[in-house]
Amino acid sequence: MIEFNNVSKKYDGASTYALKDVNITINKGEFVFVVGASGAGKSTFLKLMMREEVASSGSIVINGVNLNTIKNRDIPEFRRSLGIVFQDFRLIPNMTVYDNVAFAMRVIGTAEKKIRRRVPYVLSLMGLSDKGKNYPAELSGGEQQRVALARALVNNAEIIIADEPTGNVDPQMSYEIVDMLMRLNEAGTTVIMVTHEQSLVKCFNKRVITIKKGVVESDENAQIGESATAHLNAASEIANEYVVPPDEDYSAYVSRSEAPAEDADSEEAPKGGES
Ligand SMILES: Nc1ncnc2c1ncn2[C@@H]1O[C@H](COP(=O)(O)OP(=O)(O)OP(=O)(O)O)[C@@H](O)[C@H]1O
Ligand SMILES: [Mg+2]
Repeated sequence: MIEFNNVSKKYDGASTYALKDVNITINKGEFVFVVGASGAGKSTFLKLMMREEVASSGSIVINGVNLNTIKNRDIPEFRRSLGIVFQDFRLIPNMTVYDNVAFAMRVIGTAEKKIRRRVPYVLSLMGLSDKGKNYPAELSGGEQQRVALARALVNNAEIIIADEPTGNVDPQMSYEIVDMLMRLNEAGTTVIMVTHEQSLVKCFNKRVITIKKGVVESDENAQIGESATAHLNAASEIANEYVVPPDEDYSAYVSRSEAPAEDADSEEAPKGGES
């Protein structure tokens, strides 16, 4: 559960509040869109949630962790429960796509054997199977965005926080990305996603928090329309194709420095995909 109680944020040197008196509760398993004009405070809202910024006043509690009082040394562990997609991607330029995603698993001490099975699977979900050996600079904006998303998904985080994960991709890919996030959500992951795209929000009947000039202007469920349902069905069909067979030969995707996995153990489904 995510709780914001009277949270305000004023950046150092700023004359106005980036966020003002925000009271929001997001329950485990919810899917929430955050919308609002540029500069409204959406990224600030997310950055407070991931403890990248600290509230000027008010309290933030996430899964029982009080972000006002958390010790610096406990922040990395707290962040492990989060899968984060940054608006500016923050990929590591001198690592391949494979290693960028694998890195998220390595930092939490995952065994290389598991990494070699999991990373290609998640890359394939993102349609990046043939990009594992490329460096971020060799990718389009949309491809980089999908690498960022793959990295956020790879550890089966409890909460996915995504800042404009569809900002650089075409409308079809946007639907596919949201559809995929919906599937993770159906499997129990809490998803909070910032977007500018009203059409996307209308397509998916989910909670929408609208921020205007730092204030929560509305917090409601969007109603799904007929044309939206058609889009949604189309997106679902596309997403079905993402499911890769367990015995797929992944050796081609393995990073330049890694040997392919010898075993052909079946891959785990994304969180909750099984049972
Ligand atoms: N590090 C910072 N220092 C000072 N002011 C900041 C900082 N980051 C953001 N702001 C200001 O806080 C306000 C909210 O910014 P924020 O990045 O949260 O907006 P946003 O809704 O995410 O916008 P966009 O849609 O353009 O990404 C803006 O006025 C912005 O200029
Ligand atoms: Mg932003």
